[in-house]
Order: sequence, then structure tokens, then C-alpha cells
Amino acid sequence: MLTSLLAGKRIVICAGSGGVGKTTTAAAVAMGMAERGLRVAVVTIDPARRLANSLGLQELGNEPRLVDLTPHGIEARGELWAMMLDAKRTFDELIERLAPDERTRDEVLANRIYQQLSSAVAGSQEFTAIAKLYELDQDRRFDLLVLDTPPSRNALDFLDAPDRLTRFFQGRALRLFLRPAGFGGKILGRGTGVVFSVLQRVTGVDLLRDLSVFFRSLGGMVDGFTDRARRVGALLEDPATTFLIVTAPRHDPVEEAIFFHRKLRAAGMPFGGLVVNRLHVAPHGPLPPDLGAALTARVEAALEDLSALAERDAANVERLRAALGDPAAVVPELDDDVHDVQGLALVREHLFAD
Ligand SMILES: Nc1ncnc2c1ncn2[C@@H]1O[C@H](COP(=O)(O)OP(=O)(O)OP(=O)(O)O)[C@@H](O)[C@H]1O
Ligand SMILES: [Mg+2]
Repeated sequence: MLTSLLAGKRIVICAGSGGVGKTTTAAAVAMGMAERGLRVAVVTIDPARRLANSLGLQELGNEPRLVDLTPHGIEARGELWAMMLDAKRTFDELIERLAPDERTRDEVLANRIYQQLSSAVAGSQEFTAIAKLYELDQDRRFDLLVLDTPPSRNALDFLDAPDRLTRFFQGRALRLFLRPAGFGGKILGRGTGVVFSVLQRVTGVDLLRDLSVFFRSLGGMVDGFTDRARRVGALLEDPATTFLIVTAPRHDPVEEAIFFHRKLRAAGMPFGGLVVNRLHVAPHGPLPPDLGAALTARVEAALEDLSALAERDAANVERLRAALGDPAAVVPELDDDVHDVQGLALVREHLFAD
């Protein structure tokens, strides 16, 4: 089902609430599609170190690297590429592209205000993730891009990240600053000048100069930025883009998945399917006869707990099914964390089992 759902897509975005398995699903989907002959790149965000190591992503290169699957006994007709998003670096690269000349570029990159701002914007990761996606999509090096999304409290932050950035660049605050005789001029005028120069003496940082250089250099880039944010945003609505909503079968993530789905539709963004991850499955079959009384009692207690979990999960899946239809894939709770290529291979078996 996942295979047909992804047919003809160029971008898959794995969204969902925190800790449900977005990174795991993104990587496993990418692996499965590489096996099906595509050249796939997965853009992961803050993967666990062990998983990153297993994918050969020790260094942050901010560019995809080819993952060698053969040592793991996996034959891929296509190629699996993986990268870890370096949000700050992506933001810097954007400045490099948009700056009219090298001098402006260097001025902005070296500017302390920019450094603060870019860490703050990049820190939220939502915009930079889509910006990177846009970059990779433009290159046409890959048949399919799979995007992991940041562990945001609210998956919706992701959807309006481009808008938020556009609002910032078109917003009153920045405009006032950029208008020579406006509020910015006043702020940078006499009285504040005294404050700034005192600050400078105390801290050794020439804030006033930083501020004016920042706004002067950035002024010429507002249009470029706005335009970029608009195109990056448009990518989310492209028919070749699809969203997989990843969720665990527990109360809160399920409610968030349903809410997110509604928002996706309202925003005109393409919902592809639902992935239920970490489903507890009720145990079945008789216990081995030779366990002994004490052990049998303990095993039975554990089985009871597991049955209760399985029941709870099943009820949550029903709730999901009623709201969003049948899941495109269901992955059980595995015995172990998914921290290497082998683990991913197991997840992808369940993802693509139909
Ligand atoms: N089916 C599964 N069975 C067992 N463990 C799993 C399964 N799927 C994911 N995990 C484990 O659950 C943890 C969370 O998974 P993952 O990092 O993919 O979630 P995430 O949604 O990306 O989290 P975050 O929101 O923090 O980015 C990881 O330790 C992962 O190994
Ligand atoms: Mg993650």
C-alpha cells in the first residue's frame, strides 16, 4: 500500500508528534523505496547518535551521503542517501545565495545580530528543513526526497514556518527598522546612541554598528527572502509532495494526528497516509510447559500487562480508523530500539508488507 501511495511522488514528509517514530519511519521509507529502484535521499533531523553512526553520518556535512547497504545484506536496485540537517548551516547557505555580493554576504554572516537571529530561526528548524528540501528538489539529483520533521511540540509549527518567516520579513518591526527616517532611525538616534555607547564600553561590543550593518545588508535581501519563503511554502502544496502522518497508538499522539490531518486539509496540503508505529500486539499461543511455577506466574503477569496494552492500542487504532480511514502501514512495537540499519530494515519490512 505504501508503494502505490508513493508512486510518482518526489517528496514525502513524515510528520507527527514528538517521539512517535518520525525519524525511524523516514529512514525506513527511504530504504524501502531505494530497494524498489529509486535514488532516494532522506533528510533526518537530530537522529539518535547510534542511528546516525549506522547510516554513516558521523559528520554534519549538510549534504546527503550514500549509505552502503551491502554490508547489511540488503540489495538495493536504487540508492539510499542520507543526511542530517544542519539548520544553522542551511540558513547561512541561504544568505550566501541571496546576498547581492560577497561583501554583503560576509558582513551578514559575521554580524552578531545575524548570528543570534539565525540561531533562533534555525533553532526552530521548521523553516530550514523545508528550505533544504527546496534546495535538493531544485537540484533534481534524486527521484525521491524523504523529510523527517523536527521534534516540535506541535506538528503544525511545521506547516506555517514559511508564512511565519515571510511575516517576519514583511512585518512592521522590520519595515520600521529598514525605513531610513522611521522608528529604526529614531532607535539608532541620539538618546539610544548614548545607551549603545555605554553598552559598548562595558561589553566591548559595538551593538549600534552591528544593528545598522545588519539592517542595511538585510534590507536588500528582504524581497529575495520573501520570494524564497513563498516558493518553499508552495513546495508543501505541490501535487508531487505528500505527507505521511506518523503516530503511536496512544491517546495524545492520536488526537494530535487527527488534528494535524484536519489542518493539512484546510491548508490544501496533500495527505498521503497514516503510519501507526509501535503497536503492541497481544501475545498468543500456550506457554512452554517446563517453566516452573514461579516463572510461569511472572510470565503470566507480564502477558497480562501486554494484553492490556494491546487492547488499549487497538482501541486507539479504531479511533484513528474512524477519523482518517485505514492506516497505510502498521509497525509493531519491536523488541529493541531502532538504532541501526538492521533495525531500520525490520521497520521497513512492516512498512511495506502488503
Ligand atoms: N517500532 C518501534 N519499536 C521499538 N522502538 C521504536 C520503534 N519505532 C521507533 N522506536 C524507537 O523510539 C524512539 C523514538 O523514535 P524516533 O526517534 O524515530 O521518533 P521521532 O518521532 O523522530 O522523535 P522526535 O520527535 O524526538 O524526533 C527511538 O529510540 C526509536 O529507536
Ligand atoms: Mg526525530
